[in-house]
Amino acid sequence: MSKVQSPKSNDGTTSSGTYNRRRHNSDRGQAHLSRADIGLWTLDVGLAVTDLRKTFSSPSGESIEVLRGISFSAVAGETIAIVGASGAGKSTLLHLIGGIEGPDHGGVKLGEFAVDSAGRLELARYRNRQVGFVFQFHHLLPDLTAAENVSLPLMLARHDRGSATRNAFEALDRLGLATRASHRVTDLSGGEQQRVAVCRALITQPVLVLADEPSGNLDSISGGLLAGDLISYATARPAIVIIATHNQDLAHRCDRVLRLEQGRISEN
Ligand SMILES: Nc1ncnc2c1ncn2[C@@H]1O[C@H](COP(=O)(O)OP(=O)(O)OP(=O)(O)O)[C@@H](O)[C@H]1O
Ligand SMILES: [Mg+2]
Repeated sequence: MSKVQSPKSNDGTTSSGTYNRRRHNSDRGQAHLSRADIGLWTLDVGLAVTDLRKTFSSPSGESIEVLRGISFSAVAGETIAIVGASGAGKSTLLHLIGGIEGPDHGGVKLGEFAVDSAGRLELARYRNRQVGFVFQFHHLLPDLTAAENVSLPLMLARHDRGSATRNAFEALDRLGLATRASHRVTDLSGGEQQRVAVCRALITQPVLVLADEPSGNLDSISGGLLAGDLISYATARPAIVIIATHNQDLAHRCDRVLRLEQGRISEN
């Protein structure tokens, strides 16, 4: 699998000038990339998470201090596992990095793009174009087929329906779901739904993938395949892939393991 070449044009930067944009070159042989003629962004600088803090209030008014100053950085091509007990704040951390929730303090930067201070539209664009999210409970749309779910981010990014659908079928085929592509997702098993969610996260070829327990519903063989897929995506794109997981095998396949405990992070 070839490595993505470094970008040389600055023609499509974001308002903050974060990314270099280049056109997709379908003959470079990347198994994980779709063949649509879509704009790709490469990440020049990396991800910087600085002193993130988040406190929730319980219905009784009690404060739950979930993150108490989380800092780390990552570069494209790296896979990072976030481990820690249930309730340690793994999902919360991914939500803050992905711009789904805002921190009380601290910041997240992808390249020069400051996620925490972005406006609503910039944030929506960031989530659609730069981030691929695999949610803990996958959040697929139940009335749509697997292929329709996978093609949705491309449709939102204004790709034409034909190429979006073609890409979705190819992506599902790569994860062994060709025969399930036209089924409604509610007819699929939990594990199959999770793989559809991974396809959906990767379909726009994001530079940052945030996967929340992606192997939660899978048997060990399927979980291993899916982990391999995320890891090889990180290398091929190249992208930063962050995986929150309780699965030790999956964590140890990542380049780095960050442990979240009592609101703080440590690295082995
Ligand atoms: N919106 C919210 N309002 C109040 N409390 C919240 C909210 N979101 C998360 N929490 C609390 O924050 C803590 C961390 O939750 P989080 O989902 O991040 O944990 P986690 O490490 O992902 O756990 P798991 O391994 O079970 O998925 C939990 O105590 C949870 O109840
Ligand atoms: Mg969680």
